[in-house]
Amino acid sequence: MELQDKVALVTGAGVRLGQAVAQQLAQLGMRVVIHYHHSEKGAKQTVQGLPGGESRHLILQADLKEVSSIKELVHTAEEKSGPISVLINNAADFFPTPLFSTTEEEWDHLLALNLKAPFFLAQTVAEGMKSRGEGKIINMVDSSTERPWVSFLPYCTSKAGLVSLTKGLARALSPEVQVNGIAPGTVLTPPDHAKMDFSSSVEHSLLKRIGSAEDIVQAVEYLLLSDFVTGTILPVDGGRSVY
Ligand SMILES: NC(=O)c1ccc[n+]([C@@H]2O[C@H](COP(=O)([O-])OP(=O)(O)OC[C@H]3O[C@@H](n4cnc5c(N)ncnc54)[C@H](OP(=O)(O)O)[C@@H]3O)[C@@H](O)[C@H]2O)c1
Repeated sequence: MELQDKVALVTGAGVRLGQAVAQQLAQLGMRVVIHYHHSEKGAKQTVQGLPGGESRHLILQADLKEVSSIKELVHTAEEKSGPISVLINNAADFFPTPLFSTTEEEWDHLLALNLKAPFFLAQTVAEGMKSRGEGKIINMVDSSTERPWVSFLPYCTSKAGLVSLTKGLARALSPEVQVNGIAPGTVLTPPDHAKMDFSSSVEHSLLKRIGSAEDIVQAVEYLLLSDFVTGTILPVDGGRSVY
């Protein structure tokens, strides 16, 4: 698929991996819709750093836990920027939920943001993609889905669901739309990483280091430039999944 001047929606693009992916898509010639939830400042910084700035790219706010907000986000994005050709389902939440103290609210939050939102985002953009005969969806999954971390079961379950959703969407939207997932290992530690210990994820990997945003950006670029890959999950995890 030709990417030049096409529109990409990147969720959670005001910070960290989403911001890096938005920058890369703009470098590839795409017009980017930068979605954010609370990081308005980060979203503005993202757009200001892109070639063409605010005259070429768009910033939109939405709480993706609400399906009505998802519909409104996509509607506004397409009204202002044109049809969405690429969807990067990047926004997610991640925090410890020990089995015996996890609340219903925490479960609902993680499943709504990490799994329900990508489904309804895909549903909302994919009809147009299919009718126009092309489109790409990339879901940010996680290397923990095969061996879920016991203190993060709702998060791991949401990402395992997203693996299944990726394969199902690839089937449902073929042949016009390619749908793939990227399964990062630890590439960026959370801002409050002092509370979490990542030494074992480094130790239990083949390459013995944490990855970088660049590692993920390169995987996104590959999946966007390839037209013969769909329904797959690409681990970018320093060999953690085969350790
Ligand atoms: N970092 C890693 O090492 C790693 C490892 C494995 C998988 N991943 C996956 O890669 C993706 C990006 O990771 P990251 O570490 O860059 O994520 P992050 O820093 O935790 O950022 C999460 C993003 O989700 C957005 N978000 C949170 N709640 C939201 C809501 N209710 N509605 C809409 N958006 C909301 C945030 O938006 P605001 O900031 O605007 O509020 C933020 O942009 C995630 O899917 C994550 O699970 C990351």
